Amino acid sequence: MSIPRYNLPRLKGKIIALDGPAGSGKSTTAKLLAQSLGYIYLDTGAMYRALTYFALKIGVMPSDKIKLAALAKKVSIEFKTENDINKIYINGEDVTTAIRTPEVTRYVSEVSAHKEVREAIVAQQMEIGKNGNIVAEGRDTTTVVFPQADLKIYLDASVEVRAQRRLLDMGKMGVTTSLEEQIEDIKRRDEYDSNRRHSPLKRAKDAYYVDTSNMTVQEQVEWIINLIRKTVK
Ligand code: DC
Repeated sequence: MSIPRYNLPRLKGKIIALDGPAGSGKSTTAKLLAQSLGYIYLDTGAMYRALTYFALKIGVMPSDKIKLAALAKKVSIEFKTENDINKIYINGEDVTTAIRTPEVTRYVSEVSAHKEVREAIVAQQMEIGKNGNIVAEGRDTTTVVFPQADLKIYLDASVEVRAQRRLLDMGKMGVTTSLEEQIEDIKRRDEYDSNRRHSPLKRAKDAYYVDTSNMTVQEQVEWIINLIRKTVK
């Protein structure tokens, strides 16, 4: 999808953070917004997914917070844009597709719920965003990683719409699943992510709220651009 590059020269060094539940439209919107602003796109969930993938690969249990935290401090997670595709590497291995499998999706909530794991990953995220020029996306970016963000947005959508979007994404990646399965998965993850002890999914007091259930991606990006024009100085 081509999105116009918005000419917003005063937008140097800013941090824009997008929060919200799974399937609310955060990733697609953040990616296009970053592209249109010429900013870095930081997919924080992908980092937890990469760690989960790697842990499963080398036989570390998703419940083993000590080994996981040690791993999180040791591994190198990198983002690279190749031919307009945002890729993620862990210890040099391209895991862009591998981190989206149902298996990783099943275990990532548990891995990302450990305080020690979060501390290590959040430290890396803060480092990536230290000079601004970043659109960060993920369920603690407005509250924990970048509480000082220049603009915070909380995206939401109905469970059905979110499940439908996930189904489409999975289909594009050749993963076979059903709408019912996705609805169940989304509900389970919402429950887990909202009730976990460390950094639960919650809406920051100063975050703008938008329900994207009936919005196209383009509308979502434009809604945010208008907000930037009005509020970011
Ligand atoms: O957005 P996603 O589905 O790729 O996120 C994968 C998991 O990682 C999800 O269960 C919640 C977790 N996550 C997190 O705990 N903190 C973030 N900033 C981003 C994602």
